[in-house]
Amino acid sequence: MASQGIKGPPYRFIHGNTKEIAAMKDQANTRTFTDISHDIYPRIQPHFFTWFQLYGKNFLNWYGPQAELVITEPEIIREIVSNRSVSLARPDLGSYHKKMLGDGLVTSSGKKWASQRKLANHAFNGESLKNMTPMMVASVDLMLLRWKELVGSEVEVHEEFRMLTAEVISRTAFGSSYLQGKEIFEMLKKMSTIAGRNYYNPQAGLLSKIFKTRDDLKSDELQNKIHNLIMETIDERHKMMGDADDFLGQLLMAKSNNQLSMQDIIDECKTFYVSGDGTTSLVLSWALLLLSIHTEWQERARQEVFQIFGKESPRFEGLANLKTIGMIIHETLRLYPPGTAIIRKSQQEVKLGNLTVPANIILHVPVLAIHHDRKIWGEDAHLFKPERFSQGISEATKNSPWTYMPFGFGPRNCVGSNFATNTAKITLAMILQQYHFTPSPNYVHSPVHLMMLVPNNGVQVTLHALK
Ligand code: HEM
Repeated sequence: MASQGIKGPPYRFIHGNTKEIAAMKDQANTRTFTDISHDIYPRIQPHFFTWFQLYGKNFLNWYGPQAELVITEPEIIREIVSNRSVSLARPDLGSYHKKMLGDGLVTSSGKKWASQRKLANHAFNGESLKNMTPMMVASVDLMLLRWKELVGSEVEVHEEFRMLTAEVISRTAFGSSYLQGKEIFEMLKKMSTIAGRNYYNPQAGLLSKIFKTRDDLKSDELQNKIHNLIMETIDERHKMMGDADDFLGQLLMAKSNNQLSMQDIIDECKTFYVSGDGTTSLVLSWALLLLSIHTEWQERARQEVFQIFGKESPRFEGLANLKTIGMIIHETLRLYPPGTAIIRKSQQEVKLGNLTVPANIILHVPVLAIHHDRKIWGEDAHLFKPERFSQGISEATKNSPWTYMPFGFGPRNCVGSNFATNTAKITLAMILQQYHFTPSPNYVHSPVHLMMLVPNNGVQVTLHALK
């Protein structure tokens, strides 16, 4: 890579650059935001911010003994997107991630991935989404019932949205409720904390067959408990409903046709509990913060909702017409993408633009850095301006749509993107129909990267009844 002009921080024995990265992030985290600035990239990823300036648009760093090529050049990203051998190949995740997600759709590969993807595509797109709309509305109604008591006071919306999105995925995909799955969600959250704190530890879990750390023991225990709880949920559900046509029903059907084993079903349930819960609640939390500050956009969005649905509950057919809300969701996901990176691995030597990349190199596309790049988005890249999406993503990215990737790209992009967007549209529309909201004086701006880009102190807004 050096002979092709690629530079980067020097390799250090065993740890590569992971210790430097962790130290730079710790240092950045000691500084608090003095105001609600969206210029968060230098603070969230100080290592990338520094190294791009030192080494250029693409550089090589080391994740332990593993070489990782970090790429921001749009032309090379386009090549990664369009080269199927690369865009299909997600590298192995660490051992804790593996315990959390099993061999489900996020982690599987080859033929197994292709058949899992087909099932999930069917369950989370097209006609299925239409049938899910009333269940999404009912889940938001349940949340808004709680909010009735809170008018005039503060609501911590991130926690509210976590419960809501857990309820939505439980109802729509698994035919159960959040309360039934509550213990599973809580244990998966603990597992995700363990995976997150070991992210920059390349040896994490490697020696666990000989010597177990506290995290190894805890994650083993969680893995077993989650397994048993999901088995119970499936058993109960099977007795109650037979093979209904939701996601779990389709998985059970595939099992009775011998396409899937019980372990496959459990892994897929874990994968969708994790993916369906954490991400959508984040886009909603950041959107509520942004709309509470930018009240002119809050009002524009509200007018649109009244124009399309009046005071009635949202219907599937009207969702595509929520253009302003669509722009607000795009802009929220640009400034605060829940996933800050898209990762692939070269399987064999591959030509990407003018670079020849050897086999077994991690290709890291730093989504947050690209979404905040002033060369792509202009000098106002760090400002909330949904109008940049008024003519669609192509226009907003100056005809380089692959530089906007909150849902990833290529054949392994997010299978739940339409499901998530619909959930977010319905939720925002129903909140706007009933409430006006402003930032709470207790809100402290503290976005941090803990596996995903999360508000470390939650998002507090004050609710006001509409006049
Ligand atoms: C705003 C909400 C969401 C965001 C920002 C998001 C983002 C992402 C991203 C960045 C990826 C990786 C794509 C890649 O590597 O190219 C991904 C994959 C995935 N997402 Fe989402 N996601 C969201 C909601 C959901 C929901 C609600 C579900 C489940 C219903 C879901 C299920 C998945 C699955 C299963 C994959 C792996 C797909 C595969 O490898 O074939 N996501 N998502």
